[in-house]
Amino acid sequence: MFHNIPPAILNRMKQLEALDAKDRVDGTPRLERLRQIPPETGRFLALLAAAAPEGNYIEIGTSAGYSTLWLSLAGRAQGRTITTFELLPEKVQMAAETFTMVGVTDVVQLIAGDARDYLADMSDIAFCFLDAEKEVYADCYTIIVPKLAPGGLLVADNAISHRATLQPILDRALNDPRIDTLIVPIGTGELVCRKI
Ligand SMILES: C[S@@+](CC[C@H](N)C(=O)[O-])C[C@H]1O[C@@H](n2cnc3c(N)ncnc32)[C@H](O)[C@@H]1O
Repeated sequence: MFHNIPPAILNRMKQLEALDAKDRVDGTPRLERLRQIPPETGRFLALLAAAAPEGNYIEIGTSAGYSTLWLSLAGRAQGRTITTFELLPEKVQMAAETFTMVGVTDVVQLIAGDARDYLADMSDIAFCFLDAEKEVYADCYTIIVPKLAPGGLLVADNAISHRATLQPILDRALNDPRIDTLIVPIGTGELVCRKI
């Protein structure tokens, strides 16, 4: 998976990493910034997704498609598609460009809109990466956990960097008898939940 990443994907990852780094220091308004995961989190997500049981991959919060590119490596390796949701039209456009440019439109389905309007129709979720506004984490958690396949994984970003804001949902996950849960200190901190 990591030994033969296509050059087009590597190049776009590097471009987006540079853009994200620039955004963080040049005063770009928050909603316009890419706010991507760091590369080590991308590798972690790809490893987890590749090890997930049979079922669907989903992502909530695409931005320009950086984390989706990491997930596409697992999708390609495992013969799965990723459905990724993005709310903001400018980000949807950037993500669409990313996926077309690197040739992953066969493994990535990009849906424009609020993920919460679509999640009720999803089932048999093997892997979900949640990386949207923190205000929607609780709603997404409530809908997704019952829909996880046995052994399925829900991974939520910023569990350490935004610990205070996310404390109620972290407490809920850590005490939820339907899942085994751990907060992993990689990147900005990942909440990893596995359906029992
Ligand atoms: C932190 S960024 C995602 C970064 C991306 N996962 C990456 O690492 O490349 C969060 C994104 O979630 C989007 N978003 C926020 N709320 C959403 C919702 N309810 N449904 C879909 N997308 C949402 C935002 O517009 C923003 O682009």
